Amino acid sequence: MADTWQSAMDHAVAVARRAGEVVRWALSDDRKVMTKSSAVDLVTQTDQKVEQLIIQSVKEKFPTHSFIGEESVAAGEACVLTERPTWIIDPIDGTTNFVHSFPFVAVSIGFSVNKQVEFGVVYSCLEDKMFTARRGKGAFCNGEPLQVSEQTDIQQSIIATEFGSNRDPEAVEKIFISLRNVLSLPVHGVRGAGTAAINMCLVASGCVEAYYEIGIHVWDVAAGSLIVSEAGGVLMDVDGSEVDLMSRRVIAANNKTIAQRIVKEIASFSPPRDDAPPLKQ
Ligand code: IPD
Repeated sequence: MADTWQSAMDHAVAVARRAGEVVRWALSDDRKVMTKSSAVDLVTQTDQKVEQLIIQSVKEKFPTHSFIGEESVAAGEACVLTERPTWIIDPIDGTTNFVHSFPFVAVSIGFSVNKQVEFGVVYSCLEDKMFTARRGKGAFCNGEPLQVSEQTDIQQSIIATEFGSNRDPEAVEKIFISLRNVLSLPVHGVRGAGTAAINMCLVASGCVEAYYEIGIHVWDVAAGSLIVSEAGGVLMDVDGSEVDLMSRRVIAANNKTIAQRIVKEIASFSPPRDDAPPLKQ
């Protein structure tokens, strides 16, 4: 079995690199922008094309595997994580960045078996950085091992977060309460790359101590979660309980002390889960 997953991971790295080339090439072209759940939840034909490219290529090699893909779910496919080997794909994490040529865009591929992420691949296409992690075998960037920061004092930390695409006034209010609380601790700074996957890779690289967000989806964080934990970090729900990748809430931190400190500052809310049954019309 171990060999099977290694060959799947090699395939994920190869296909992420190919997908990254398509994304880079598309940046020099006109981008037709469409919207999904809200006026600021953007999607382009490149997101759809890259997802199809990844799925087709994986299907040829691993015909029995399952998929959860951001654009397939947007097109109506179920978002259910089973025990089966499942590829969890975000073809372009940072679509808004991509639309605006803001230079942080990632292809994110997580691979789960028995509901446990076995490997994660995040290709930061414009930086040409390939982040990888295999369960129990460490995390790497372009082959170099990654290690989270050793900082335990939140006041000496940089924290990453994002505003997401939910503009519901109550959610926006809570996002700002959390942001104000964290900023006022005070922390050294608050940052956001515009992609959950890259924010998590920044935690794994030791550049920022933690990343938190409410509203992300499983495809944004599946790969990054393993990259963080294999670099020595921790994952937690925003209320301090065990992380659940379908719950759309995450703290990824260098250690428990920093994560638990952030928990105290978050005004939490619960968006509909990724695996919630569709609302009846
Ligand atoms: C989004 C990005 C963004 C985060 C959103 C995600 P997408 O993913 O990761 O940073 O704030 O919550 O949905 O739509 O660009 O794949």
